[in-house]
Amino acid sequence: MPHIAVVTGIPGVGKTTVLNELTDLAHQNKFDLVVLNYGTIMNEIMRDLGKELHRDDMRSQRLEMQRKVQELAANELNNRATQHNVLVIDTHMFVRTPSGMWAGIPQNLLQQLRPQLFVLVETDAQQIANRRQSDSARRRDQSLSSEITFDLEWSRATAAASAVITGAPVKIIRNEPGNQKQAAKDLFQTIQSIAA
Ligand code: AP5
Repeated sequence: MPHIAVVTGIPGVGKTTVLNELTDLAHQNKFDLVVLNYGTIMNEIMRDLGKELHRDDMRSQRLEMQRKVQELAANELNNRATQHNVLVIDTHMFVRTPSGMWAGIPQNLLQQLRPQLFVLVETDAQQIANRRQSDSARRRDQSLSSEITFDLEWSRATAAASAVITGAPVKIIRNEPGNQKQAAKDLFQTIQSIAA
């Protein structure tokens, strides 16, 4: 059985940066691990369905359409998981849509994917605001520090609910300024513990 770890973080926290470091670490240690980005797979599926969108515009689409694509992406992830010892899914505990806060992996998909670990990548709210502001390559929602704090708390609450549904543990990894390599090391150790 492949091991699945779901790694999440609110936009701008630097989860993709940490996951790039994790891929390097796994490679150096000859550890069979692949990282797949949920949003990228959804974006490819939308394109195949005739909707060519910037990844930052997907969350504002009709919820029913997003839901359908989210399910198709989970099938795709399940298929690809069989090819590796560990599949790391780069995603979000929740997505801000015009209809409200929507679970990144709702109950039916949790039961399908059966992850063995949830990770929350976190740092201070002000750091996240700064990273969003300086990241000109993306069309990120700009938020007040108080809104970012709310999102960090909502992520924790959703992770707790997911942990109850699946029985999988939740690990919080800090991505402190300039310390993305350390965050990746902590993450690698945690992943090794579930794949042992
Ligand atoms: P996704 O691709 O996950 O977008 P995102 O949230 O914007 O995530 P990123 O990976 O781009 O940002 P990040 O926080 O990882 O930051 P980064 O490493 O770039 O998702 C796109 C879309 O897909 C979603 O909006 C949604 O519509 C959809 N989607 C995804 N999953 C879904 C699901 N399950 N269901 C439904 N829809 C879903 O870093 C940011 C900046 O910080 C960079 O400039 C970086 O250099 C800097 N930085 C990082 N770490 C550090 C550090 N330690 N010190 C200093 N600077 C740092």
